[in-house]
Amino acid sequence: SVEVEITDYAFPFEGPFGSYDTNQLQRGLKVYTEICSACHGLELVAFRTLSDEKGPALPEEQMRAYAENFEVFDQALDDGFGDFRPATPADRYPESSLANAPDLSLMAKSRAGFHGPYGTGISQLINGMGGAEYIASLLTGYEEEPECALEMETPMDGYYNVAFANGGFPEACKDDHGHHTVPGSWIAMAPPLYGDDLDYDDGTEATLEQSAQDVAAFLMWTAEPKMTARKQAGMTGVLFLSLLAVLLYLTNKKLWAPHK
Ligand code: HEM
Repeated sequence: SVEVEITDYAFPFEGPFGSYDTNQLQRGLKVYTEICSACHGLELVAFRTLSDEKGPALPEEQMRAYAENFEVFDQALDDGFGDFRPATPADRYPESSLANAPDLSLMAKSRAGFHGPYGTGISQLINGMGGAEYIASLLTGYEEEPECALEMETPMDGYYNVAFANGGFPEACKDDHGHHTVPGSWIAMAPPLYGDDLDYDDGTEATLEQSAQDVAAFLMWTAEPKMTARKQAGMTGVLFLSLLAVLLYLTNKKLWAPHK
């Protein structure tokens, strides 16, 4: 197994009572829009959902104006030849514009931040799957290339990242048994965030750590937009079942009382 370094960030949507922080989702949306969308797509996300109350909760007019910044191809235009037009709330984000950059709609659910120990999944049971932690750790995981790689004749393709497991890895950084001597691997994505890459509307300082966590939270929302509603429904269910359990217990007592 390849060692990676994942930080267990405390996101507001964690735990049975957790919910998304609207301000954080709006900040993450801004990071995605200004930086990530240059290469990545969100092809499963419709613009209208940006107005969801338990999501980024953009006011209707703001969401409409935002959508118009994106161009979509419409087959019905130009007598069936199709043409581009500004997007409407009913449209979805475009797909990735860079061929080797994956779509990010479901990324927070398709990657795990926590593993093991030894494939038991106990870490995930306690800490959750860690998709958002993985994304935030990836964005902050770029480091100087390790010694072992610097001595190589042909340098590695890509960028050394301590959170990325599946990229290229040089023989020079493996020991006699083939085990990796340094964490992570080399990723094709150049560091997209450096800190102070943008100005937040709510006055929060856009440090590297802050913007990495904000965009990770936003991508958690795109992957699971109904999480808050699901947790609340689950809680209501548990509450009613507890009440039912008490009533059944008392009923049972009463029914059997004459036979004791
Ligand atoms: C891969 C997020 C900006 C190009 C990825 C992955 C994530 C991600 C989560 C998948 C890593 C994996 O497979 O586990 C982001 C975020 C961005 C951003 C949140 C904005 C803050 C960019 C930009 C570019 C880019 C601006 C292009 C200049 C790529 C490429 C890959 C990738 C080429 C594939 C890397 C590989 O498989 O080696 N990105 N990205 N990304 N991204 Fe980004």
